[in-house]
Amino acid sequence: MPSKPKPDAIALLKADHRKVEDLFAKFEAAKGEGKKKALAEQICLELTVHTKIEEDVFYPACDGAVEEDLLNEAYVEHDGAKVLISEIEAGGPDDKFYDAKVKVLSEMIKHHVKEEEARVEGLFAKARAAGLDMDALGDRMADEKKRLVAEYKASGVPTAATPTFQHTHIGV
Ligand SMILES: [Fe+2]
Repeated sequence: MPSKPKPDAIALLKADHRKVEDLFAKFEAAKGEGKKKALAEQICLELTVHTKIEEDVFYPACDGAVEEDLLNEAYVEHDGAKVLISEIEAGGPDDKFYDAKVKVLSEMIKHHVKEEEARVEGLFAKARAAGLDMDALGDRMADEKKRLVAEYKASGVPTAATPTFQHTHIGV
């Protein structure tokens, strides 16, 4: 039987987007603190892995191939999301602002998805038009993703550093 073709970089990142959208919808419909906490933790894990593989592999590959402004905004938006992710990780469903934080994070991610997936003007379309090797990038990100998911499941999701923020420091 032929093996399933591996997703290229854009297919892999889009699949991540669909997965977290689904988790956010499930969180919104969830009743009960245990269920909410489990879903929020899964969201934080998925997003921490997603932002890391984008920052370590995909965005550096886009450097010089797409406008610097677009990439700089993506890095800053990631760092904004990381602050909320660390708040959600450290808190719990009985916190007054817990649901609000998850909701605001979902809105930030909705914006992130739009900026990356928009036709023609989106980061993915521009990276594709610039001729990046999406198969090779997809392979590298799939490997990195597998490694990170195993690591985070074993020892918890680390607080991600926010290198574009010069006056707010979280993570390492
Ligand atoms: Fe993304």
